[in-house]
Amino acid sequence: MGTACVVKTSFWNLHNPAMEFREVLASHRSIRKYKSDPIDQALIEEVCQEAISGGSSSGNLNSFSLVLTRDPERKRHLYKLHFEQDFILEAPLLITFCADWHRTREWLKLRGARDNFNNLVGYHVAAYDAMIVAQNVCLGFEARGLGICYMGTTLFSLSAIAEFLELPDTCLPVTTIVVGYPDEAPNQRDRLPLASFLHEEKYRPISEAEIEETYRDREVKGWTRYMSMPSVRREIEEAGLTSLAQFYTSKQKYDPDDFALFSADIKMAMEDKHFLP
Ligand SMILES: Cc1cc2nc3c(=O)[nH]c(=O)nc-3n(C[C@H](O)[C@H](O)[C@H](O)COP(=O)(O)O)c2cc1C
Repeated sequence: MGTACVVKTSFWNLHNPAMEFREVLASHRSIRKYKSDPIDQALIEEVCQEAISGGSSSGNLNSFSLVLTRDPERKRHLYKLHFEQDFILEAPLLITFCADWHRTREWLKLRGARDNFNNLVGYHVAAYDAMIVAQNVCLGFEARGLGICYMGTTLFSLSAIAEFLELPDTCLPVTTIVVGYPDEAPNQRDRLPLASFLHEEKYRPISEAEIEETYRDREVKGWTRYMSMPSVRREIEEAGLTSLAQFYTSKQKYDPDDFALFSADIKMAMEDKHFLP
C-alpha cells in the first residue's frame, strides 16, 4: 500500500507537472492590451518568491533586484522613458529587473572581504541572473492566467531609467516587464524553424538557399502583420520599404543610427555605475 502510494507520487511528480509546464509555454503570447484590475500583493510576492527560489543563480550570490512600479504617476514617467508604449498605462504593474551587485558589495565591505564585481564580468554575471529571474517571473504570472510583455526600450533609456529608479553603484536595469490581466487573446507567433537554431558539434554555416528556406514563412507572416497596421503601413510606404528585412533596420523599427546612440548611453551608464573603468 505504502509502496504503491510512493510509486504513484513519483509518477505524478515526474510526469504531470511537466505537462502543465508545457501548457504554460504553449499558451505564451506577449500581451499588449490590459484590464486595469490590480494584482494582489500576495500573488506578486508568491510569483517572485517562486521565480527566485526556482532559478539558478551564479555562485548563489543572487546579484539582481526587482523594482516594482505601481504608482500611476511614476508609471506615467516610465511610460515616457519606454517610448510611450501605451499598454504601460493600462497595466497595473511594471517590473524592472536590475543587474545588482550593490547589496553584495556592501556585505563584502562589512565583512572586510576584497571588493569585486565592479567590472565587465560582474555585469554579465548579474545581467544573466536578472534575465533568468525575469523569465521565471513571466512564467509564474502566465501560469496563473496573467499576461506579460517585455520592454526592450529598457536598453534604449538605460541611464534615464537608472536615475529615475535611484539605482545605486554597480546596479543597472537589464529588462522590464509589463504585467496585468489580459484584455486580448492574440494568436501564437511563430519562431524560425528548429533546424535553424540547432548545430551538431560545431557551427554549421548557412547557405543562401537555407536562408531563403528559413525566412520564407517569416517574411510572409511578418510583412502581412505589419502591413495590416494602418500607421505602420503608411510609414513603410512613405519610406519605400519593400521587404521585412528592410523594415527591421529602417528608421521605423531598429534604426542602426539610434542603436549607436543607445549603445553610447549604455557605455556611459556602465562607466557611471563602475561596471566599466
Ligand atoms: C528582451 C525583449 C524585449 C521586448 N521588447 C518589446 C517592446 O518593447 N515592446 C513590445 O511590444 N514587445 C516587446 N517584446 C516582445 C516581442 O515583440 C515578442 O516576444 C515577439 O514578437 C514574439 O511574440 P510572442 O512573445 O507573443 O511570442 C520584447 C521581447 C523581448 C524578449
